[in-house]
Amino acid sequence: MKVLIVGNGGREHALAYKIAQSHKVSKIYCIAGNGGIAKIAECFDDIKYTDIDGVVKFAKEKEVDLVVVAPDDPLVLGMVDELEKNGIRAFGPKKAAAIIEGSKVFSKDLMKKYNIPTAQYEVFDNAADAISYLENKTYPIVIKAEGLALGKGVIIAENFDEAKGAVLSIMEDKVFGSAGNRVVIEQFLKGQEVSVLAFTDGKTIVPMVSAQDHKRVFDGDRGPNTGGMGAFSPSRIYDEKASDYCMKNIFIPTMNAMNSEGRTFKGVLYFGLIVTDDGVYVIEYNCRFGDPEAQVVLPRLKTDIIEIFEAIIDERLSEVDITWDDGAAACVVMASGGYPEKYQTGYKIEGIEEAEKTKNVIVFHSGTKLADDKFYTNGGRVLGVTAKGKDLDEAIKNAYEAVWDISFKDAHYRRDIGIK
Ligand code: AMP
Ligand code: GLY
Repeated sequence: MKVLIVGNGGREHALAYKIAQSHKVSKIYCIAGNGGIAKIAECFDDIKYTDIDGVVKFAKEKEVDLVVVAPDDPLVLGMVDELEKNGIRAFGPKKAAAIIEGSKVFSKDLMKKYNIPTAQYEVFDNAADAISYLENKTYPIVIKAEGLALGKGVIIAENFDEAKGAVLSIMEDKVFGSAGNRVVIEQFLKGQEVSVLAFTDGKTIVPMVSAQDHKRVFDGDRGPNTGGMGAFSPSRIYDEKASDYCMKNIFIPTMNAMNSEGRTFKGVLYFGLIVTDDGVYVIEYNCRFGDPEAQVVLPRLKTDIIEIFEAIIDERLSEVDITWDDGAAACVVMASGGYPEKYQTGYKIEGIEEAEKTKNVIVFHSGTKLADDKFYTNGGRVLGVTAKGKDLDEAIKNAYEAVWDISFKDAHYRRDIGIK
């Protein structure tokens, strides 16, 4: 069958890598793809991955059998609905369900209504009310723009002045555009974050192996938040007790809540959890695979991913036996110097082939370009150097050995991936 992957980052490369292993697949296309994906799939970067009409037209022209929509924005915009309307099979939640990521007010209200553990919160639609609410609060406190803001719409304010500044920049200066029409102000929870991605067809929910990512740009969790500087799987703190608790109190209740709301979720539901001294809480939901989490979770998946995707579309996920490697995986992101702020691109990348000779290493590309059979940097996050191992220590060691083989001008990566 012919598969089209929509997206262009490390997550999409990990998906392409896994999809290429399926015996059912004869051809992979990607809109827009990147240098690494171009080695597995035919990439088309003249169509934007948020261009719903463009993607539908392309899928029809190429007679694609399955479209996998990987990023949040096309899902929230309703790309899957439009593909289905045109008779094209698509993997991912419909617009009505993708709102679980698209609107923080929706997801917070959902958790409140269905008793799913999450931080206490209030919603405001004007800055003055938000600021007066902030006056007698304990700090830190968390301020969130309601809509999609490329992972940047959350500010942890240490005091009233910072909180007020955050509200004004979101609601008055509109730094995140219409995503900031409303804000959620919520209680700060202290603990370690764990990402659990789950396959669900609305009837069955199957959590994947757990993962943790590193959001801050510098070692020791310092500096600004990024899209993710690395990840590892499994999490050391997410044990069987936590997973049983989450299944019963978070995962199944969320699937059922979406059904009760008439918004059945079919696809990958991402639970951003925080493990605190008094239990596990949901920090956020995403309507898709996480990035870089996908880069450590997917290489551990043993089952044919196309079989899983098709079962979800056809609502027979309970029939599929999903199995995983026992070991571990770690991913070190190599980024352009200056990321997540200003950075330069277009630098030649050396040593990827050498790195891939290291045992159990896969180099996923996030922001690269292929030209004359050479790779060039083409984004903030450039590579996700991923390795497997019998345990986390071995996976981390393998990943760094591969990182040391790779070089490009001003490359930046964290030295402490996996140490939490
Ligand atoms: P979100 O976009 O909701 O995932 O938030 C981005 C990041 O902000 C999370 O990954 C957390 O590190 C942090 N965060 C969000 N909400 C809270 C909270 N209630 N308490 C502590 N940290 C939070
Ligand atoms: N790694 C966080 C995310 O994918 O949203």
